[in-house]
Amino acid sequence: MTKILLLGDTHANYPALKAIIDYVRPERFEWIFNTGDFTVYSTFPNETIDWFRGRKNAICILGNTDRKVLRILKGKKLKKPKKNEKRVMYFWTSENLHLENITYLKSLRKQTDVTIGGFRIGIFHGTLEDPDEELFPTAPESRFHQLARDSGYPVQIMGHSHVPFYKWVDGVHFINPGSVGRPFDGDPRTSFAILKIASGKIAVEHFRIPYAVEEVVHSLKEHKLPDIYAKMYRVGKKLN
Ligand SMILES: [Fe+2]
Repeated sequence: MTKILLLGDTHANYPALKAIIDYVRPERFEWIFNTGDFTVYSTFPNETIDWFRGRKNAICILGNTDRKVLRILKGKKLKKPKKNEKRVMYFWTSENLHLENITYLKSLRKQTDVTIGGFRIGIFHGTLEDPDEELFPTAPESRFHQLARDSGYPVQIMGHSHVPFYKWVDGVHFINPGSVGRPFDGDPRTSFAILKIASGKIAVEHFRIPYAVEEVVHSLKEHKLPDIYAKMYRVGKKLN
């Protein structure tokens, strides 16, 4: 059996990632997949990237927030987000990222794939067609049919919507582990999933566990970053 730890949308929330690390013991997993968005909206981008960067069995891709941070670092204009409180978080991140972590982010792609146990697994931030598509479990079934059709990926793992789900449509397994560091569903606990592959079969289990939210709140205040994010982590909702 191959066991894979599914993580994504950490958003620089290392205390949340640390809670998962302590809970699951990552050394028990053959692989760790990360659907991107390492950065922005919390104050621990370096600790977060350091951890993934240090794992030889981690397969990671970029998310939209990471791509925007890299844009800033290249000296390009940031058109979106428009709200100042969001922009502050992007610029704070770009100013505080360590060089080795910038280099690491630059080495990553928007999507990737790997074959395990006979399954070709696609790892996407949004979907295989659009890294910025928010695919919710409530999306029309027709959208899942489209994404399943001739995709070549019988397993599709994605993040970006921050909503954990597992759907099986037209023989394709769609899995979103939810957001490690920025849940949007009103449950502030950290979210992740475990994928098991054995004898041509797939099993998925989702988890929610508490973490030290107040550590994040304290750090945001210490760095004089917008109050709205402190509240966001406490309630587990997108507030802007
Ligand atoms: Fe995200």
